Amino acid sequence: MSPAAARAGATAVLHLPDEPPTDPWELVAAWLPDDEDPVRPTMTLATLDGGVPDARTVLLSGWSRDGFLLHTDARSRKAAQLAADPAVALVMHLAADAHQLVVQGRAEPAGAEADRAAYARRSPYLQQLAWQNTDEFATLPLDDRRSAWAGFAAAHADGFAPAPSWIGYRVVPHRLAFWQGDPATASRRLEYARHADTRGGDGWTVTRRAG
Ligand SMILES: Cc1cc2nc3c(=O)[nH]c(=O)nc-3n(C[C@H](O)[C@H](O)[C@H](O)COP(=O)(O)O)c2cc1C
Repeated sequence: MSPAAARAGATAVLHLPDEPPTDPWELVAAWLPDDEDPVRPTMTLATLDGGVPDARTVLLSGWSRDGFLLHTDARSRKAAQLAADPAVALVMHLAADAHQLVVQGRAEPAGAEADRAAYARRSPYLQQLAWQNTDEFATLPLDDRRSAWAGFAAAHADGFAPAPSWIGYRVVPHRLAFWQGDPATASRRLEYARHADTRGGDGWTVTRRAG
């Protein structure tokens, strides 16, 4: 269940704490739904197209302390862009909670296990879409697209195997900015920037910023 759904009926907004946690993943866990929640947050994925910004909406497939997962078609423009330059930004607007999470990071392959799990959690419609969503299909007249869609569904009534072009990316963040809106006062952000800690691991610098 999403945090928003869990609080349905309650008037309280989930506010950023006055004393921010040192670990940004604590806030991610409070803000984002479980991976099993069928209602997936959407996010804007920004990539670089030969140095020129490009962007589109994708679903957040899941997250862990290693990063944020998204899935797409290996033949897509974004996949070619990420192969050339893995630098990305993500923007999640969680409107029901007056939250925005902005992430800067690098995209790496999610791995076969994460890809399989994400495909299994997609709806039958989205599983089928992963098979048929090609530029060639998009050129067909509407009646042909509908009959090809119905025919494919009927031929796979027992379910869909993962589409061969299904691939996933894990966005490993180096900056996270948690924006909190509040009609009773000014919006504000907590910004986390990754740094190497004294033991050679990762730590986070937290800064309070204007919204
Ligand atoms: C609400 C919404 C969710 C979407 N989710 C995805 C997604 O999870 N993965 C994906 O590849 N495309 C998704 N799309 C389609 C993309 O926005 C985009 O049109 C498509 O991936 C092609 O992008 P590209 O040409 O930049 O690679 C979604 C679109 C909308 C409107």
